[in-house]
Formats: sequence, structure tokens, C-alpha cells
Amino acid sequence: MLKSRQRRRAVIAGVVTVATAALGIGLSTQFASAQTTLRGAADAIGKDIGVAVSYSQLMNNASYRNTVASEFNSLTAENAMKWDATEPSDGNYTFTQADAIVDFAEDNGQTVHGHTFVWHSQTPSWVQNLSGTALQTAMVDHINTVANRYEGRVDSWDVVNEVVSDSNGALRDSFWLQKLGEGYITTAFQTARAADPNADLYINDYSIEADNAKSDRIYTIAQGLKAQNLLDGVGFQSHLILGQVPSTMEANLQRFVDLGLKVRITELDIRLQTPADSAELAQQAADYQRVVEMCAELVDCTGVTVWGLRDGDSWVPSVFPGYGAPLLFNDDLSKKPAYTSTLNALGGDGTGNPTTTPATTDPATTTPPPTGSGCTAQLSVQSPWNTGATYSATVKANQALTGWKVTWTWPGSERISNAWSVTGTLTGATVNGANAAYNGTLAAGQSTTFGFNITKNDGSTASVPTVTCTPA
Ligand code: G3I
Repeated sequence: MLKSRQRRRAVIAGVVTVATAALGIGLSTQFASAQTTLRGAADAIGKDIGVAVSYSQLMNNASYRNTVASEFNSLTAENAMKWDATEPSDGNYTFTQADAIVDFAEDNGQTVHGHTFVWHSQTPSWVQNLSGTALQTAMVDHINTVANRYEGRVDSWDVVNEVVSDSNGALRDSFWLQKLGEGYITTAFQTARAADPNADLYINDYSIEADNAKSDRIYTIAQGLKAQNLLDGVGFQSHLILGQVPSTMEANLQRFVDLGLKVRITELDIRLQTPADSAELAQQAADYQRVVEMCAELVDCTGVTVWGLRDGDSWVPSVFPGYGAPLLFNDDLSKKPAYTSTLNALGGDGTGNPTTTPATTDPATTTPPPTGSGCTAQLSVQSPWNTGATYSATVKANQALTGWKVTWTWPGSERISNAWSVTGTLTGATVNGANAAYNGTLAAGQSTTFGFNITKNDGSTASVPTVTCTPA
């Protein structure tokens, strides 16, 4: 049975596929929509746009939380679902962090891509010190426990991570291989399939974006697992270097799709030597656009996940000193050129300043915009799901304003869970909102937008209450 978000994706993707295939053109130039968030644009074409999140930032930083909710429709735990986080000692499971991330995703109508069951890194020493049957039992127990806990809540899993080495496509000489032989990979997939038959199962690795010896080995493994109905997709981590999107990447993704598999860009970041100048940021934007377009135009590419929200969140500088700035947002959450190009690649309106539109004159009439009647505001549902929805709201000034207030009452169980570009008392049955610091001043005829997510406790259609707008 398809989960609600998967059903929605399937419906929307069908529409886009026909259009792009018929015209043979890219989404970015020909299908620019009015969507002004990554999430809105990705929803409109039936793709995931994901972000790897940190538990502590999600808990302690409201602006981080709001951006994660408003800009992304999919989450991956950057560290919280790894073995050292979930089972630090034998049989003692700690799910506080992973639970919080999955709860957050559910509250905000986001899918979860699980990362990861079996990896040679971030696996506690108690596991690495086992061998033979004891090690295999620990692996099976771990997969069963974690997959069962999140059954129906995590959509897809990186079952094994980085099992191929960087030289000549040999299997990685990890403790897993040394102690269990290569059969551990199949056992991991068999266990995950039995534990959660509805989750999509992925093999995930880095430096497999190009057609090379390493991706050839992944291809062979994928072929074998697919033949046993144990594999649904291949995750291409895509930790890339500025200006080095592989020329064979598109064809390489396609050969996996031709095996009947999904593909996914699971950990995208594009590093450069810091500090970056404007030319490098423009090159980075072009690189992001290329990768995201590849996925947008490939029906069986489920989505793109960026490996962190702000540049300062990235793992890159600690591992590659002198390199960094690989993500879409600056540390103050301002948007980098790569944000805009990513939005364009998803078919959104990447004009760079999505919240305020200039005043327009209706060419059909010379009647000036109404004055003295304050403002009007209207809600529209962007993406509904069973227990929630994302809304966009437009406030239009009918006279010059230095601030505005909006109010409405929900008819049923709808409640705002998080909001952006609006302030006020928002979470009750009656909503009393006001402009944010940056979108209160509007000329007559000018409009601005804000947005929010709601939760609701039934499967009813998301309602569209009438909004009263008054100048403040
Ligand atoms: O949680 C501890 C904290 O208690 C301690 O004080 C601190 C001191 O160093 O370490 C903290 O743990 C760190 C952890 O991230 C959480 O911040 C680890 O040292 C650090 O090694 C770990 O790095 C993560 C890395 O995987 C581990 O290999 C990165 O955040 C994470 O981005 C990175 O992600 C991997 C993917 O899982 C797989 N593909 C490659 C990708 C990048 O390396």
C-alpha cells in the first residue's frame, strides 16, 4: 500500500512526465511556476527536496526549524539514526533524537529518508569487537529493532552505506567484510525487507556519480539485489567539488534506472576553497542547477537531499581544511545563489526575492488601485496531506501600509504548527497574525506573501477560511 505522500508524488509526477517528454525540454526554463520555495516547487513536480538535519539545531534554533519546515519536504537525520546514536551499547536503544526528527517530519508533512543501518563508520566498538554469529545476530537485531520502530513512518532506508572501496571497485575491506564475508550485504537487505516490507531500500555510496570502477561495482551489486527483489533504489551521495559535476553523471543515473531501480541524490554538497568570491558562488549555483535538473527531469529520481542546512552546519571544513561553503544557505539563513538556481531547477520562480512583488498596473483600466480600504488577504492550500497541509497567504495593500494584521478562525481541528514571514499569536483556533519586520511596508497595490503548515486530526479537506486584513 502506498503511503499518502508517495501517492501524491505518483499523481503529480505523471503530469510532469508527460509534459517534459512531449516537449523534450528542461523544467527550469519552460515550466517556471509561481512557487517561491524549494518545497513548493518540488511538491509541484512530485519530487523530494530534502535536508540532513541536526537534532540539536532542530530542538534549539527556531529559525533553523522554520526554514527546514518551509523549504524542504523530506528529512534525513545527519547523525541521529546511525548505530552509535541508536544502540550505543548492546541491546540498549536510544531513540530520543531519531524520534524527535521523525515527529518533526510528521508534524510538517515531510517524508523521511532513513540513514543508515550498516556502515563501517559511527558503529560502536562493542559491535566491531564481535565476530561470526554474534556479529551477524547483532546486525539482524539492530536492523529489526530500528526498522520496526519506524515502520510506516520512514519512507526509505540506506540499508548499507559505503560498502565499496575507492580502489578498483573492490568491496570495502571493513570489519563487516572481514568477519562476515560479502554475504553480509544480502543479509542486511533480507532483514530490512522483512522488517518493513513497505519501505524503499537503498544502497548508498559516494564517488559513484560518474561512470567509473566504483559505480560499476555498485551496479553489479544492485543487479544481484534487484534480481532477488531486495533493492528499490541507489543513493548517490554527491559530495562534489566546485566545477566538477561529472560529465557522465546523467548517463550513469540512467543505467541504474534502466535496471528498474529508483535513484536519489542523497547527500548533495558542492565544496569550494574558502573564502568564496562571487564567481565561485555563481559556478556553485550552476553546478547545483545541473545536478538538481538531472533529477527533476528523470522520472525515477525520487529527489535530492542537501547534506546540511547552512554552510556552518557542514561536515566539510573539518574533513577538508580550507574547503567549505558547500550548501544553499549562509549562516544567517540568507539564500545563496545556489538556492536560487536550485529553485529554478525545480521549476520554481527563482527571482531571488520571493516574498514581495512589485506594484503592478492593470493595462486594461486606468482606475487607480483602491485607496482607503486597507488591505485584503487570501489563503491558498499548496500541499495537502491527510493530517496537515502547507498554505501560502497573500496580503495585498489597497493603500500605503507600514504594517498589517490578519485574523481568521479555523472551522475544525486545523492548527498552525509553524509559520514563516508572519508573526503574532498563530497556534490557536483563532489566528492573530502580523507582518514580520521585513514585509510590513507596502505601497498601494503591492502584495507580499507568508506561509505556514497546519496539522489536523482527520482526513478532511484542508479548509480555506476567510481572512480579515487591517492596516497596523
Ligand atoms: O556527538 C559528539 C559530541 O558529543 C562530541 O562532543 C563531538 C566532539 O567531536 O563529537 C560529536 O560527534 C560528531 C558527530 O558528527 C555529531 O556532530 C562526530 O565527532 C563527527 O565525526 C560526526 O561527523 C559526521 C560524520 O558523518 C561521521 O562520519 C558528520 O556530522 C556527518 O555529516 C557525516 O555524514 C556522512 C554520512 O553519514 C555518510 N556519507 C558521508 C557523510 C560526510 O562525511
